[in-house]
Amino acid sequence: MQALRIISEEHANLWRIATSLDQVADEIDAGAPPEPAFFNAVFDYIEQFVDRSHHPKEDDFLFRLLRLRSDKAATVLDALQQEHRNGPGQLQALRVQLLQAGYSPRVAPVFTAAVRLYTQGLKSHIRVEEKDIMPLARQALSAPDWAEIDRAFLDNNDPLFGASAKAEFRELFHRIASLAPESIGLGGHSAGQLLAGAAPANTEVLLRVENMQSCYGRIQALKGISLEVRRGETVALVGANGAGKTTFLRTLSGVQPMSAGRIEFDGEDISKLRSDLRMRRGICQSPEGRQVFGPLSIEDNLRLGAYTQPKHQVEGDLDKVFAMFPILKEKRQLPAGTLSGGQQQMLAIGRALMGRPKLLLLDEPSMGLAPLLVQEVFNVVKTLKAQGMTILLVEQNAFAALAIADRGYVLETGKVTLTGTGQELISNEQVRAAYLGM
Ligand SMILES: Nc1ncnc2c1ncn2[C@@H]1O[C@H](COP(=O)(O)OP(=O)(O)O)[C@@H](O)[C@H]1O
Ligand SMILES: [Mg+2]
Repeated sequence: MQALRIISEEHANLWRIATSLDQVADEIDAGAPPEPAFFNAVFDYIEQFVDRSHHPKEDDFLFRLLRLRSDKAATVLDALQQEHRNGPGQLQALRVQLLQAGYSPRVAPVFTAAVRLYTQGLKSHIRVEEKDIMPLARQALSAPDWAEIDRAFLDNNDPLFGASAKAEFRELFHRIASLAPESIGLGGHSAGQLLAGAAPANTEVLLRVENMQSCYGRIQALKGISLEVRRGETVALVGANGAGKTTFLRTLSGVQPMSAGRIEFDGEDISKLRSDLRMRRGICQSPEGRQVFGPLSIEDNLRLGAYTQPKHQVEGDLDKVFAMFPILKEKRQLPAGTLSGGQQQMLAIGRALMGRPKLLLLDEPSMGLAPLLVQEVFNVVKTLKAQGMTILLVEQNAFAALAIADRGYVLETGKVTLTGTGQELISNEQVRAAYLGM
């Protein structure tokens, strides 16, 4: 019954989008202009993903088999499938109303009313499927039925359900998150399954830190930290505000003096190396608070990230970063200061990637972002991880960071107090109480 989990996850995403649309409609009613790019991104996503992939999953598999196995289902399924068929027409109407609202602010309330009607319909549709249809399917469908459905849903080569379609849909979702007003959030959202222990335990150690100490005057901020990152691993360093996370990253990248300890990177002792040389070795950081250069263009900010790199590779790398963050490409000539907080975070990560990191250091990438964008940032980290990047992720947002990490370290006032796999730490009572608020 993997299929039901997949459908429920898709419902959860749609529900969050519906809730966000309602919030944005409220803002428009309160005087904000309707942002056509955001709404069109949402409509594109629903048209492409929901109509092309989500509805066929239900219509052609789940509902078709349920009709065969249960007499009770037909009436409800007829209504649901009629709603599926009406979907594209409703979106078309919304697009026209959006256009009209753009021409004349007086028509905006007509558009927001239509948006609310649409989201109400969407939510009640999802509710019926979750509350009525899924329980019925659990009862009525046979094991071979589930096998058939699961096989179809999990077929990676399927043009609509498979890997390349998923990448396309994720791109569309990414656009929504990039274009969404800062004020809206989609709630805690788990976008995918965790690959537990993705990096094999015996792969080579890329970074080995032993007994790192560092002081601000007489105050010892790091009291002897030891930590390892293996090639391909995502390691989370979590801890409360003031625990020493940023100091650790700054000492690692060489901008903060180390008073004792040893750093070995890629087989070399770099303890005494200057910071620009550490960057050249492949330790690249997206700093706390993003620190993009506001007056410089987005493209020039990215180029700055490549200053230690040979000139001939820069254009190609720029294209790769733009492929990953299309919104940065669209706005490449604009000053970085015009980007939203979430987009600036993407820029800061993109700038670090321009240095061709062997180890990517991320300092609190989710800090200060609305929940929708927080999730989007973690999706970016997941994507980089899936591409094989080695990542050291520093976060106060312990739950989200540990959920995507292979392993984690808990830092308290300059000392490591706990370490384990991401899953172990998430289920550790002490961690749950202290950091996850559970
Ligand atoms: N520039 C500084 N001067 C003096 N103390 C500092 C400075 N930066 C950080 N500290 C202190 O070092 C400790 C660790 O800070 P920091 O590394 O920023 O923690 P985190 O990133 O985990 O929030 C804190 O007690 C903080 O007050
Ligand atoms: Mg910090």
